[in-house]
Amino acid sequence: MNETIRDDQLRLLFELDADLNRIQDLDLLLEEVLRGARLTANADAGSIYLLESSQLQIRYSQNETLQKRLPAGERLVYSIFSLDVDNKTIAGYCALKGRALNIPDAYRIPKKSPYSFNPQFDRLGHYETHSILAFPLKTNTGALIGVLQLINARDSEGKIRTFTADDERLVSHFGTSATLALQRAQLTRTMILRMTKMAELRDPKETGPHVNRVAGYATEIYQRWASRHQVPSREADRISDVFRMAAMLHDVGKVGIDDAILKKPGKLEPAEYEVMKTHTNIGASLFEDSLSDFDVMATQVSATHHERWDGTGYPTGLKGQAIPLWGRITAVADVYDALSCHRVYKDAWPEERVLEEIRTQSARQFDPEVVDLFFECLPNLRQIFERYPDV
Ligand code: C2E
Ligand code: SIN
Ligand code: SIN
Ligand code: FE
Ligand code: FE
Repeated sequence: MNETIRDDQLRLLFELDADLNRIQDLDLLLEEVLRGARLTANADAGSIYLLESSQLQIRYSQNETLQKRLPAGERLVYSIFSLDVDNKTIAGYCALKGRALNIPDAYRIPKKSPYSFNPQFDRLGHYETHSILAFPLKTNTGALIGVLQLINARDSEGKIRTFTADDERLVSHFGTSATLALQRAQLTRTMILRMTKMAELRDPKETGPHVNRVAGYATEIYQRWASRHQVPSREADRISDVFRMAAMLHDVGKVGIDDAILKKPGKLEPAEYEVMKTHTNIGASLFEDSLSDFDVMATQVSATHHERWDGTGYPTGLKGQAIPLWGRITAVADVYDALSCHRVYKDAWPEERVLEEIRTQSARQFDPEVVDLFFECLPNLRQIFERYPDV
């Protein structure tokens, strides 16, 4: 590395690296990456854009100047927008060409430049962009996944300056961290989809659409719960994302159940039912390393989705609030779906009878609050039911 990089900058870099390794959660991690990149270059503002359906979607934005205009403790609200991958914006051009752009002044870009700056965002935010450093986020195979963009580097007196070659080198380091984090999250997602695929291969009749519907109902109910309990909406969205994956896997432990029982076209004998009940613990054991929020949640969903509010459920007989919220919500979502649909062992019930059963089981099988929330969002649940029909 270049010796003009100051000692304190290097120390900062090592400390941030250590922080990044501790952070599991993707959102927090990318915010830290952006903060770290801004700090090393002393940049006033910055954003991370991620490539989604061939557009650059803004995902994180920080702006010290705008932040200072807000009352203490308030978070900067930035508008959600996406950019085309073309030469109309700096980030778009950076993505298009897959290389870094270092621009001394956004308002003095030579006319003959292949890219241009869109001043609309400045006007909307009452902000003045001058120096810009845009960095493509690329995987080790060269695929573009986003752009990290820093704005208005400042000298030691706070005057806006041009980004230096050192800044470029240091920021590329943060770009690598961001890319690795994104790839790791993508891998988690891919592994989860593979697990649900595996469960589907084992039990194609009941698993495919059922897991999508249950996950849909469960997150819908959770969003209601979160809004009632004043969970900040960003936090609720993040949890919802993780919960969706965990709920999809609520019955993944059924891969460990013998075909003769799993696919029996009729009522289970008591001994067979006892075997069937072990799908809860089998499922939980798949995530017991508990390396991430997702693992913890998936363990709880598998382990507790057949517990009952009154303490008579399985496998443990947990009661009331001792059952994790994720299990209490998935329980209602699972039974709503099981009753509404045809199974090898039962016919579909008419909706009226399904709803009556759920109401009757409030405070018996189910958390009464979750049952309330269930009825509040019933129109949304019906929509999910239509979206994932049985094949
Ligand atoms: P599943 O099909 O996903 O059903 C989930 C839950 O929906 C059941 O958990 C139960 O709480 C509820 N449920 C399903 N059908 C009925 C019903 O006709 N009446 C009522 N009141 N509730 C119903 P449960 O009972 O612990 O079963 C767990 C899993 O065991 C089921 O998942 C299914 O895969 C299997 N299973 C349960 N009973 C039978 C059966 O008689 N025959 C077969 N072949 N499988 C069964
Ligand atoms: C992910 O966001 O894909 C991983 C879930 C987590 O680790 O919290
Ligand atoms: C949670 O389980 O994390 C939410 C709190 C509750 O149990 O109600
Ligand atoms: Fe189950
Ligand atoms: Fe189920």
